[in-house]
Amino acid sequence: MESHSVTDVVAKQNYLIPITKRPELCFIRGEGHYLFDQNDNAYLDWIQGWAVNTLGHSPKLMQQALIRQSSQLINPSPAFYNQPMLNLAEMLCENSRFDQVFFTNSGAEANEGAIKLARKWGQKNKSGAFKIITFQQSFHGRTLATMSATGKEAFAPLFEPKVSGFTKVPYNDLAATEAAIDDQTVAVMLELIQGEAGVIPADAEFVAGLDALCKQHNLLLVVDEVQTGIGRTGSLFAYQQYQAEPHIMTLGKGLGGGVPIAAMVIDKTVSCFDPGDQGGTYNGNPLMCAVSGAVLKEVLAADFLPQVNRVSEYFCQRLSELAEEFGLGAIRGKGLLLAINTGPFSGPKIVELARDAGLLLNAPREDSLRFMPALTLTEKEVDEGIALLAGVLRTLVAK
Ligand SMILES: Cc1ncc(COP(=O)(O)O)c(C=O)c1O
Repeated sequence: MESHSVTDVVAKQNYLIPITKRPELCFIRGEGHYLFDQNDNAYLDWIQGWAVNTLGHSPKLMQQALIRQSSQLINPSPAFYNQPMLNLAEMLCENSRFDQVFFTNSGAEANEGAIKLARKWGQKNKSGAFKIITFQQSFHGRTLATMSATGKEAFAPLFEPKVSGFTKVPYNDLAATEAAIDDQTVAVMLELIQGEAGVIPADAEFVAGLDALCKQHNLLLVVDEVQTGIGRTGSLFAYQQYQAEPHIMTLGKGLGGGVPIAAMVIDKTVSCFDPGDQGGTYNGNPLMCAVSGAVLKEVLAADFLPQVNRVSEYFCQRLSELAEEFGLGAIRGKGLLLAINTGPFSGPKIVELARDAGLLLNAPREDSLRFMPALTLTEKEVDEGIALLAGVLRTLVAK
């Protein structure tokens, strides 16, 4: 095996534009639930590419799909059809309430497409209405328009002037949403679980109410399922657990299982792009579509999602035991997008100590830990991770 060392990180990190604080680790390989660093230390990975690696690291079926497709056709250009693109679009539509797909390379780009489609629809059908209601603490991406749509407070002063036309209202507040609707409003866009905000689920009544408001005011309902889609919350799409008929859904992350592909999926009644309105060089390339198709096929297998729900229940049970023992707070989320309030402990401190102990976690807030393991998680890894986490909490208590 090629040798690596942490000095590579030290020596070469300055060649990268610093965009985030990274530990001085360099991951060399991944296998299922585990990542291995430059010294071949193993880490149980509950970040999984940021809720991306649906089937864990480097699963055989993704490797095979990559090899098969790359030896056949990598990119004929987006100006031509290709078979994996057609197959994946069919699979997404046949397994959802939607009819048409536009493929992109990232979740932000899918949301950018949704914003553009809603505005075009408003031009054609609602006298130029263009405003989109989004929610405080939401996250929709890092392009200029999606940062403008995002309700994360830290984004507010950045890169001014932003794209105008986004009205932010408190999440789970139907009255505030209704009050924000005016003649220029064209759509409401939300995450059904606010992931980056710390795993905050939308209330059932709130979503049903939004759906009714959209019908009453002729608005488009857009669900950003970049983080919640493809089985993450225990159903193929999170909207299926709500009483709602969204017009547009965006997907990313788990759709590719680790490779860059995302999508905007729409009800055909709102389809209104003319040729040239939307596109992109890599959109719908057969290599990514073939891999995504293989991942989706696995997620659609009969026992896949029931097992996600079984292991989620077990995970929550083990987390509540931990909460009881160490005085942690509430558990939030659905399926395998879960979070726990860390009570008296600092979330980022736990993350740091857990990493040293061989467990990769994320703290989306000072007071929370988020868990986004591969959907192939079993009770065995849950026990292993909970034992590591308990060890970290014991150390913190002892201090
Ligand atoms: C809900 C949601 N929307 C959009 C995005 C942006 O996706 P990407 O990073 O692929 O652009 C994310 C990423 O975390 C997300 O969680």
